[in-house]
Amino acid sequence: MRHLLSTRDLSRDQAVAILDVAEDMADVATREVKKLPALRGKTVVNLFFEDSTRTRISFEAAAKRLSADVINFSAKGSSVSKGESLKDTAQTLAAMGADAVVVRHPSSGAPSVLAQSGWIDAGIVNAGDGTHEHPTQALLDAFTIRRRLHRSAARGRDLSGTTVTIVGDILHSRVARSNVWLLTTLGATVRLVAPPTLLPVGISRWPVQIGYDLDEAVSAGSDVVMMLRIQAERMHAAFFPNAREYSRRWGLDDARLARLGASTIVMHPGPMNRGLEISSGAADSTQSTVREQVSNGVSVRMAVLYLLLSGEREELS
Ligand code: NCD
Repeated sequence: MRHLLSTRDLSRDQAVAILDVAEDMADVATREVKKLPALRGKTVVNLFFEDSTRTRISFEAAAKRLSADVINFSAKGSSVSKGESLKDTAQTLAAMGADAVVVRHPSSGAPSVLAQSGWIDAGIVNAGDGTHEHPTQALLDAFTIRRRLHRSAARGRDLSGTTVTIVGDILHSRVARSNVWLLTTLGATVRLVAPPTLLPVGISRWPVQIGYDLDEAVSAGSDVVMMLRIQAERMHAAFFPNAREYSRRWGLDDARLARLGASTIVMHPGPMNRGLEISSGAADSTQSTVREQVSNGVSVRMAVLYLLLSGEREELS
């Protein structure tokens, strides 16, 4: 694997292999010494042109646990805010000897531009580009689902027979897109539930079932209900009447939580708008995987950096 730009072009076997390496990385996290020497001498740059807490910290923790050197480059307060181009920034990072660059950018496609430009020779990891993709989030979601459903027998499996319902602001969500491609590649059935205004044009060509009514979806049952954040910062028009109306119709509140099957898991990529798309009761319930998703994120990002920077998988001792 040279870059990780999207989940759309991952094969089933590639995806399962990444999840299996992430299992090995999760085992390392249970040891007293959580660090592996695998990427000693390598430099990983976190290049963030958009705000982020958990994704940036997660990549930083992942790189450090593999003994890489980490440079955090936030576009705010850098020459980028003085108008330095992506090209100049990339060339600066190349001159510093970056082996991998983890990029978050408000424009869809920016990581692919970097990967194809020839400005820099490093492995590029997309950490979220505009409304396009967020592949490591989808991988950590798939990892979380697989672990919850199969526990210690998770290795080697895909998600055949699993139904995942993704609810809310699909239109602005790179998490939803990456999950639709990855989860269907892994054999899951994906249902999307949203107000019609928050579904993208062309959705009929996606490999998903579509619904507009959350109560109907709750009654139909699902192994997983994944709630998405209302991305107010990307909304330049009114997509629903008001917050109260949205949460009444499309929020996972305590009453809907009580109607979910006891084994249905509740996911959210964070950051959550508590009381809007998800109630505190649902977010903090035993069915919620929100905190597990965060810790699994480190294992999955370790796996991605490891596969990118050290070539073929070797046995982890
Ligand atoms: C997501 C993102 O930035 O796309 N969050 C994240 O990576 N933790 C989802 C979101 O912002 O709603």
